[in-house]
Amino acid sequence: MMTLKVNGRDHRIDADPDTPLLYVLREDLKLNAAKFGCGLGQCGSCTVIVDGKAVLSCVTPLLLLEGKQVTTLEGLGSIEAPSPIQRAFIEEQAAQCGYCIPGMMMQAQALLQRNLRPSDEQIRAALEPNLCRCGTHMRILRAVHRAAALMQTADASTAQGSAQ
Ligand code: FES
Repeated sequence: MMTLKVNGRDHRIDADPDTPLLYVLREDLKLNAAKFGCGLGQCGSCTVIVDGKAVLSCVTPLLLLEGKQVTTLEGLGSIEAPSPIQRAFIEEQAAQCGYCIPGMMMQAQALLQRNLRPSDEQIRAALEPNLCRCGTHMRILRAVHRAAALMQTADASTAQGSAQ
């Protein structure tokens, strides 16, 4: 039995410590945004954020997660109140089949948390582990720039608010 922190909530999980995080998210916690693609750490569709870093949940066993904060796409925002990254992907219509998109968004979110002004090259490098077979790469690139702009604006108004 272990406690798994996901999207700010503690969950008691009774599973083998070697169980991949992805299985627990999807099957035990019913958080289905992270997708099973290859199951081998090769496609990125299962990407989530652990303590600020993008990780592949299909190859991350529970035993590595005690005391860590896991964030899934569900933890960023909702349909009613999308986060900047979710809003930007919708506004740029960055999905075609959509299967890779949750992983893409989490990878992009992790990038923007450490670098709010990434260049095209930095975005391409960060998203390299995430495969998209539909070929919406240019729209995804635009969506990440748009999310960065939204986050910069939010940052600026927070700074302005705290200076008043
Ligand atoms: Fe995890 Fe493909 S399902 S990398």
